[in-house]
Amino acid sequence: MKILLINGPNLNLLGSRQPEIYGSTTLKDIVDRVAQRAKEHDVSIEAFQSNVEGRIVEFIQEKAPTADGIIINAAALTHYSLTLRDVFEAVQKPAIEVHISNIYAREEFRHHSVLAGIIVGQVSGLGWRGYIAALDALVGILREKSA
Ligand code: DQA
Repeated sequence: MKILLINGPNLNLLGSRQPEIYGSTTLKDIVDRVAQRAKEHDVSIEAFQSNVEGRIVEFIQEKAPTADGIIINAAALTHYSLTLRDVFEAVQKPAIEVHISNIYAREEFRHHSVLAGIIVGQVSGLGWRGYIAALDALVGILREKSA
């Protein structure tokens, strides 16, 4: 089983970016922790981060056909990128959206996700642990489906 782990704009700054909101864990630490958990599940992870919307779209177009599922923190793109929504509709792979912060407890413009209505579900506000929760859920859902 192969799962794509995608992080969007500015998440490369995790660790130093607004630690009071996003914590002090770096993106590398998060990816390492997800990869470790994936190993326990006997699943492989391919991680990607970009600050460029089009690069994320290209990554999904290229990699999703041979992957089983997707975990994505689309960062600010979550709130407005119909391009990203369209590529998820195009590739039709089970996906879970992660937000480190609780987007519903923040500014109103963060309350809406253009992805939420077309993916499996969302994890919001659990810090870096949200990525682990998303992985556990996605693996469980995919295994149940193929059983
Ligand atoms: C975020 C929340 C978004 O609103 C924000 O633009 C981000 C990070 C989160 O992980 O909490 O960049 O997706």
